[in-house]
Amino acid sequence: MRRPKWFMTGNGATGWRAGIAVLGALCAVIVALSGADAKADVEEGDSLKLPEIMVTLDGEAVTSVAQWRQTRRDEILDLFRTHVYGRSPDAPVEMSYKTFEEDPHALGGKALRRQVALTLSTEAGEARIDVLLYLPAAAEEPVPVFLLLNFGGNHTVHSDSAIALPRGWVQPRVSPPEEYRGARQDVHCVELIIERGYGVATAYCGDIDPDYRHGFTHGVHQLFDVPEERPGDAWGAVAAWAWGLSRILDYLETEKAVDSSRVAVLGHSRLGKAALWAGAEDERFSVVISNNSGCTGAALARRPVGESVAAINRSFPHWFADNYKAYSDREDELPVDQHMLIALIAPRPAYVGSASEDRWADPEGEFLAAVHAAPAYELYGLKGLSTTEMPDVNTPIQEGHIGYHLRAGRHDVTEYDWERYMDFAEKHWK
Ligand code: GCU
Repeated sequence: MRRPKWFMTGNGATGWRAGIAVLGALCAVIVALSGADAKADVEEGDSLKLPEIMVTLDGEAVTSVAQWRQTRRDEILDLFRTHVYGRSPDAPVEMSYKTFEEDPHALGGKALRRQVALTLSTEAGEARIDVLLYLPAAAEEPVPVFLLLNFGGNHTVHSDSAIALPRGWVQPRVSPPEEYRGARQDVHCVELIIERGYGVATAYCGDIDPDYRHGFTHGVHQLFDVPEERPGDAWGAVAAWAWGLSRILDYLETEKAVDSSRVAVLGHSRLGKAALWAGAEDERFSVVISNNSGCTGAALARRPVGESVAAINRSFPHWFADNYKAYSDREDELPVDQHMLIALIAPRPAYVGSASEDRWADPEGEFLAAVHAAPAYELYGLKGLSTTEMPDVNTPIQEGHIGYHLRAGRHDVTEYDWERYMDFAEKHWK
């Protein structure tokens, strides 16, 4: 059985050693519950024996951007596709976009609201993703946009009565949908984003792939998948959500009021895992932001704290490729770790947001992945994170091309997080 690090006593711990270990464990529990923890630093990452970012599968050292782009980046992408997220289809898909609702004076005149149905079709089937877009009404130029998926339906992101309800399955905790209009308004901070001069685009993750074990027969799976012929590297829900984010970006590229060269992809928790994978797979995203994405998101798999690969595979078997199951309790055998996922975003700015009480997502593991992604940025002559020591709560690090903060509090997205993400993106968009 996998144990958190503080529980590890080494082989044959007996007598006083076991007593000290138990005492240590108790202290660690108290520390974990209080939300404080020993500071992670770069040496700890080193001791985890992370796979090398800058050595090719042939054992060659990567010392130039050309080598990175021609060889190593593709190798790492392929390892993640094969062993972790699964392979998204590259078969052609037809897409059409239809605005089904629009108001240039939404939110008391502050915003233009547009709701657009994206219809995706192949010979095998059809899927529809409803995008909700708010743009600052006063904008005279195309604006940068924050793109994120939501958990419960577009209508949960704001109490705005014009937002269409989801058409399909929703999580039991947001059902019936009518009762949850605006229920996640505090998480999405639409007004705040608009006031800072940015647009926000969102879609319900369930339009892309409903988040339950449906046997890969719903959402965009219908367009490509043959369930009885699923190979071990077939895509799971996280890869499907990431692929859907790219399709939404295809649409945003057609919107004249949007500056599609400045679209930041962002996600919280499971949708943060998807945002990172979308940013790795699709280099059109100009900034990539993970909020509390944790295991198989920004957190290192090899750090035995919080959610493990075994736990995530057990609870959410539909999120990743089947091949990933082989690494339950065998993280050390993974040919990648999550610092390499952040490295795939280079040279574009990446940001990792953690929360101090979110032990399940392992904030220190998220921080260390950000630290150890640096070599990819350094190849481009850029700085990754500007420190290798875990910062205090509410002390954002934003000097380099990788940003990080540890917000005080629990697993969530708050105004504090949004402000930091906008500060960071703004710096790089100027
Ligand atoms: C669970 C899961 C996490 C995930 C989270 C979420 O806690 O274990 O991996 O990030 O749900 O998406 O809210």
